[in-house]
Amino acid sequence: MRRASWLVLVLCAAGCGNAKVQPMPFNHKLHVTKAELQCDSCHENVAEGAVAGFPRVRVCMRCHKNEEPANPAAVPYIEDIRRHAKEGTDIPWQRLYVLPRHVYFSHRRHTEIAGLECKECHGDMAELEAPPSEPVAKTLTMTNCLACHVERKVLNDCAGCHR
Ligand code: HEC
Ligand code: HEC
Ligand code: HEC
Ligand code: HEC
Ligand code: HEC
Repeated sequence: MRRASWLVLVLCAAGCGNAKVQPMPFNHKLHVTKAELQCDSCHENVAEGAVAGFPRVRVCMRCHKNEEPANPAAVPYIEDIRRHAKEGTDIPWQRLYVLPRHVYFSHRRHTEIAGLECKECHGDMAELEAPPSEPVAKTLTMTNCLACHVERKVLNDCAGCHR
């Protein structure tokens, strides 16, 4: 037992930190097709703020408060949603897309003002039936930010992104 946990520590030092596992196998495709939700029904701040945000449990409860899920395998997850709602806690969604602290990025600027689609930077989330295990890598690189800005004639001032 002791030896096993030590081994896990060593292995994790070499990379477990990168593999983020979501608290439940959330299905984007089902929610944007069958449940007909828009991206901003769940990522509520995407047009108004810098950070898009993960859904609060009250959003899930709009549909999962009473009805049992069609898929029996999903019962424990629906129960988990209700437990969080009852306890007043949020489901601990893991964030994959994180820029270093020295970079400023605003969703509002890119979605509401520039009119870009989520797809341009996040790939086709609406097609995913299980959580992604890693970000679309190029989205988080400086080279990628600069390339689109050059293409769209946005001034690339160092201080605009590094504040
Ligand atoms: C019913 C709520 C819901 C809807 C609707 C929804 N999402 Fe999500 N989204 C989530 C949840 C929950 C997660 C975390 C689990 C996961 O990654 O699947 C997430 C994760 C993400 C992430 C990964 C963020 C990160 O840093 O890990 C992106 C990007 C994203 N969603 C984009 C979209 C886009 C684009 C749409 C519309 C096509 C959309 N979402 C619609 C609930 C939703
Ligand atoms: C111009 C590129 C771009 C567009 C367009 C874009 N995103 Fe993002 N998104 C990012 C970047 C970069 C991050 C990481 C931001 C950070 O760490 O400050 C991110 C992070 C996220 C996250 C996780 C962190 C958070 O902000 O809550 C979610 C969820 C998300 N985006 C959803 C969306 C949705 C939904 C749309 C469309 C309505 C969208 N994004 C449009 C680039 C983009
Ligand atoms: C507008 C209604 C609606 C909202 C809001 C909603 N869901 Fe769903 N959800 C559905 C529908 C419809 C299904 C598919 C039918 C069923 O299983 O009841 C579903 C199914 C599921 C399933 C089972 C998936 C499977 O594999 O069968 C899970 C887990 C789930 N939702 C989680 C969530 C979470 C987490 C949230 C909040 C972030 C959420 N839902 C918000 C309508 C919704
Ligand atoms: C797909 C194209 C695209 C990508 C990728 C993109 N941007 Fe932008 N960005 C734009 C557009 C278009 C504007 C101009 C919006 C407006 O009209 O204000 C903009 C404006 C900005 C601004 C405001 C201008 C300023 O200097 O004050 C900042 C800051 C910014 N982006 C940061 C980023 C960062 C950081 C990234 C990478 C993580 C990024 N952008 C990726 C298209 C993009
Ligand atoms: C459009 C946004 C944007 C602009 C403009 C920008 N950067 Fe960056 N920069 C980023 C992002 C995003 C990262 C983090 C991702 C990466 O390292 O590729 C970054 C990372 C860096 C790093 C850290 C690299 C590392 O290895 O940790 C340095 C240094 C840097 N930028 C300098 C600059 C300088 C100098 C300028 C002006 C000539 C500039 N940046 C302009 C977005 C920008």
